[in-house]
Amino acid sequence: MMKALEGVKVLDFTHVQSGPTCTQILGWFGADVIKVERPGVGDATRKQLIDKPGADSLYFTMLNHNKRSIELNSKNETGKEVLTRLIKECDVLVENFAPGALDRMGFSWERVHEINPRIIMASIKGFGPGKYEDCKVYENVAQCAGGSASTTGFLDGPPLVTGAQIGDSGTGLHLCLGIVTALFHREKSGEGQRVSVAMQDSVLNLARVKMRDQQRLDAGPLKEYSQFGEGIPFGEATPRAGNDSGGGQPGRILKCKGWETDPNAYTYFIIQAAVWEKVCDLIGEPNWKTDDGFASPSERLDKLNQIFERIEAWTMTKTKFEVMDLCNPLDIPVGPILSMKEIAEDEGLYDTGTLVKVDHPERGEYISVGCPIKLSASPVDVTRSPLLGEHTLEILKDVLHYDDSEINNIVSSGAVGEVNKS
Ligand code: COA
Repeated sequence: MMKALEGVKVLDFTHVQSGPTCTQILGWFGADVIKVERPGVGDATRKQLIDKPGADSLYFTMLNHNKRSIELNSKNETGKEVLTRLIKECDVLVENFAPGALDRMGFSWERVHEINPRIIMASIKGFGPGKYEDCKVYENVAQCAGGSASTTGFLDGPPLVTGAQIGDSGTGLHLCLGIVTALFHREKSGEGQRVSVAMQDSVLNLARVKMRDQQRLDAGPLKEYSQFGEGIPFGEATPRAGNDSGGGQPGRILKCKGWETDPNAYTYFIIQAAVWEKVCDLIGEPNWKTDDGFASPSERLDKLNQIFERIEAWTMTKTKFEVMDLCNPLDIPVGPILSMKEIAEDEGLYDTGTLVKVDHPERGEYISVGCPIKLSASPVDVTRSPLLGEHTLEILKDVLHYDDSEINNIVSSGAVGEVNKS
């Protein structure tokens, strides 16, 4: 079966997490992703958070499936010639270097566009144009600068970053969408274009509802926030909402049976207006269906602590899975707090390809997260990440069509690493 992006060649000049997540998805959709890495060094994550001495780290392998690796020194004159040839051959160039790094190498957008007017050049930077445009940025900086951290955590605690990598992987996803949109545009126009995504902007996009709340503050307190019911005044900015739901339906994380010893024996519980009566029956408070102060959603807003304490007294008598089994048939939205261990052991996720087991020559078998986007006509086969420079020779020969003597000259110039690794 032909893959959706078959025939698309991607010059992958990305490193660490944000860029690699983007090119990994392009690879999963069938693009030929050629990862350019510094000879002898490679992507810094190859040797970060090492768990098996001598082997590429899980940090690297889990972000670089379905790619080929060429070692190429892009600061060496011959290396620049090889890179120029790669730019001519490829449809997309993706990079997430520090601001100005590509220009310093001699490959500004203007130069890249001149070499190949059809190429799409896609970049991730920490900030967009403006006072911070020259900053180097990592995940948590973006979470903070994008408004997420100030709205995460509890009211009486400091700002919090989240475990989901919304700054890096979130930005990679945004970039990926920009690239396929530009490829679609190129089908009609024949022209390449520049795609730029700033990590701050991506995080802000994902924290959009918090900007909604910022503006709603002008009209008075945010009644669906717990702090309203607790009588705590609102300040000038969207506050931290603890585990309150981000929408109009009140929700909380509640203890379940075993919480004293299991840090994840909790469930999320939403008291959606449409199922309020069923919730009352389930927890043994049938009078709340009609009692003054409880019957309508607006009346309940200042009693959320009391209501959730009562629901928690019920959830604490059940495991998080029993809560799910009892609530689901009643359409009461609940979600067990699943640990990474529980997720790793969920056979159903392997059946759908959301989790995959991958074999690696240095590591042996490991678990990875597969492609979360399922295309019926373009199923994903996850293949292991490349070793550093594993495909240097293959790419010089088959993609760039250098002959043997030219390859010898390239090797002796020091532009590429060893070429006998394939
Ligand atoms: N051959 C020769 N030199 C290479 C090379 C290659 N194949 N690949 C990279 N380099 C060089 C770069 O040209 C740069 O050199 P310069 O500083 O002399 O111009 C150098 O390696 C370092 O690149 P840089 O991007 O500055 O890496 P860093 O480790 O110092 O910074 C980041 C890392 C992530 C902070 C930075 O790249 C960044 O801010 N990126 C944009 C935002 C981003 O994506 N952040 C999230 C990452 S998950």
